[in-house]
Amino acid sequence: MMNLCKNRTHNNGELTLSDVGKIVELKGWCAKKRNLGSLVFIDIRDKYGITQLRCDEAVADVTSLIKTEYVIYAKGEVVERESKNKNIPTGEIEIDVKEIKIINASEQPPIYITDDPDAVSENVRLKYRYLDLRRKSMQDILKLRHNVTKSVRSYFDELDFTEVETPILGKSTPEGARDYLVPSRIHNGTFYALPQSPQIFKQLLMVSGLERYYQIARCFRDEDLRADRQPEFTQIDVEVSFLDLETLFGVFEGLFKRIWKDAKGIDNLEFPRMPWREVMDKYGSDKPDLRYDMQLIDLSHIFKESSFEFLNNKCVKAIVAKNAANSFTRKEVDKLADVAKLFKAKGLCWVKVNNDTLEGPSAKLIEESQKVAFKETLNYENGDLVLFVADEWLTSVTAMGQVRIAVAKKLELADPNVFKFLWVTEFPMYEYTDDGRLQAMHHPFTAYIEEDEKYIENEPLKVRSNAYDLVLNGYELGSGSVRIYNQEMQKKVFERIGLSEDDISNKFGFFVEALKYGTPPHMGMAFGLERICMILSGTNNIRDVVAFPKIQSAADLMNECPSRVDEDALNLLGIKLNIKE
Ligand code: AMO
Repeated sequence: MMNLCKNRTHNNGELTLSDVGKIVELKGWCAKKRNLGSLVFIDIRDKYGITQLRCDEAVADVTSLIKTEYVIYAKGEVVERESKNKNIPTGEIEIDVKEIKIINASEQPPIYITDDPDAVSENVRLKYRYLDLRRKSMQDILKLRHNVTKSVRSYFDELDFTEVETPILGKSTPEGARDYLVPSRIHNGTFYALPQSPQIFKQLLMVSGLERYYQIARCFRDEDLRADRQPEFTQIDVEVSFLDLETLFGVFEGLFKRIWKDAKGIDNLEFPRMPWREVMDKYGSDKPDLRYDMQLIDLSHIFKESSFEFLNNKCVKAIVAKNAANSFTRKEVDKLADVAKLFKAKGLCWVKVNNDTLEGPSAKLIEESQKVAFKETLNYENGDLVLFVADEWLTSVTAMGQVRIAVAKKLELADPNVFKFLWVTEFPMYEYTDDGRLQAMHHPFTAYIEEDEKYIENEPLKVRSNAYDLVLNGYELGSGSVRIYNQEMQKKVFERIGLSEDDISNKFGFFVEALKYGTPPHMGMAFGLERICMILSGTNNIRDVVAFPKIQSAADLMNECPSRVDEDALNLLGIKLNIKE
């Protein structure tokens, strides 16, 4: 291999007792300096690790000038240390320095380069991200991310997929979030849209006959940010022709087996499947965390004739938090109720099981005649906490699903070293927006399951689509679908969401036209690279796996974008500002 360590003999993470006696040359940053009078110890750091330098009076004139984060060069002999540090690979040796030089000075750094997460607030770390990235844990994550894309590329290459780059300056796609727009200078008054995903292009590549496409693709979405969302992010984007869904699932399962094997040495992953309706009924979320059980239990039959109006004839869903009666104070249960309300439930009922009796404000709701069935259905024991909600089905399951997550978080039920994948299949084809419009739940190029065609007109929410998600530990890793390649089906789907011929031709004219020229049956999927890296590196903050991330308000604290631009630049683009306060 080429020697990339010019003018240094070793990196700072590799010298051990077997190197004692060698004369070595090292370069790096001064991570720490301890002055013990006649002896000065310096920890020299590079991307590979830390080595201890022992500097005596012979080099004192330079050593005295060195401060933290100075870039330095040292030459000396590897010697065995007196007091050894077993926690680092180089901890048994140190360098008896014969020569030391300052390569470059550093101002007093505004942040301390340490792997103690509480040492510096995240906003300060992000403002000085280039220094924050000097931390080993950050470099490990960047390396992990690199390794994941390397595994992805070699895996798809072996299966004869071709990576194709698609445009960044494009036309709006129907992904559902707001687009980032880029004004055109040459065509004043018109805009490009940054891609929310390469969806249309990858389908066009199937029309072109590429057959097996993938891309590590940058995507941009102007949407409300959450802990697992960035305005710009990366997808592992895939599309195939002439494959059946079963085989495609196998391709993706193979991909994740490869990634996990390469990154973690784990090779016992399983990929169970469950239709959306069942997933929602059991877990109240379309991305359930299966590392803990605590399934939703149906109590509707028990309260069918309840004298309490809000319970009778409703969908009543419960969870039993084992052994948790004493883990939640009254205040904490109220917080769970707030979670349920945030997800549109009217309230949250709860009872604690103590000495074989039900205690708590909701105990009175369980009438004498219902008690046996209540106990048998829930199978609770002393010390358990029972929580339930009554509403229409979707509200009940969704609210209880969120309560389930909150309870698991408090009880720390999820083991970070366990990986539970789940394929969620048969998503609904349509959903209603908050303002009452029907829209395609995935995107309007997704095929419906043909036997459900009869519901399109009058009961659209009953139509199941051929869309699927891959879920892992409570995160949606990826989404995909079998695409429509039949003109009739495409027309029906567009019409049902109220797109007129004009809308269709304005929005996707070229695409709909392309589909007329012999489109092969095709399907695909896209996975969020950041989410994969988040789970692999055990963080729940997406910013940790992005080199230069944006904060919640979509701003970059380091380079202070977005920012105002010159009047001249705006004039050139034909833009007059009308700023909202
Ligand atoms: P979808 O919109 O579900 O599908 O996106 C696929 C995956 O991309 C990731 N993702 C994000 N990651 C970080 N920040 C974001 N703002 C963000 N938005 C999405 C998620 C998600 O599961 N074109 C379709 C896929 C297809 O049908 O082939 C699509 O983009 O992990």
